[in-house]
Amino acid sequence: MKFFIDTANLDQIREAQELGVLDGVTTNPSLMAKEGIRGRDNILKHYVDICEIVDGDVSAEVIATTFDEIVKEGEELAELHPQIVVKVPMIKEGIKAIKYFSDKGIRTNCTLVFSAGQALLAAKAGATYVSPFLGRLDDISTDGLQLIAEIRQIYDNYGFETQILAASIRHTMHVVNCAKIGADVMTGPLSSIDGLLKHPLTDSGLAKFLEDAKSFN
Ligand code: G3P
Repeated sequence: MKFFIDTANLDQIREAQELGVLDGVTTNPSLMAKEGIRGRDNILKHYVDICEIVDGDVSAEVIATTFDEIVKEGEELAELHPQIVVKVPMIKEGIKAIKYFSDKGIRTNCTLVFSAGQALLAAKAGATYVSPFLGRLDDISTDGLQLIAEIRQIYDNYGFETQILAASIRHTMHVVNCAKIGADVMTGPLSSIDGLLKHPLTDSGLAKFLEDAKSFN
């Protein structure tokens, strides 16, 4: 299972990278805005800065919503750095663009996916990644994990190579449950990765070992 961090914050990306388990980064316009990144040149530079911190894939989202504009913007993003994956919304023009990018060898992440049917369409178009937003489904009393399981079943039925990128992860148990289902990738906040470290028996066990080790001196 690949671990991506879902942020545009360079300090958090560095911290996750230093842990040694980071496989990539996902961003979106909201996350870029949160970091106060403004203006096209600054946004493009920020994507390059992220690529220089991590070794893996970095999703950069298009703002355009028509085929021609998505292609233009996506090609510009893809040329920025070999690690860039063009993130395209799940709309009709987006699916056409994903097919176009796929035929040209440009990697894509189909975002804003909330149903198995949408995920099937993204795979048919040749998306590299599909991003079902499980946390946002949970937010409206729908089972986000069930969607991940349905997509896993459909992709396995037909051998689709599109990777399931479980997005909108909110906490550590989302990560664990996505791993049990077999999501290829999870993207979440740094806290969802850090949470995997924690167990009170680890803390109390280590405290006892360190206390008993004092007798060695
Ligand atoms: O990057 C897309 C997705 O992960 C958004 O998550 O927490 O805004 O629902 P969230």
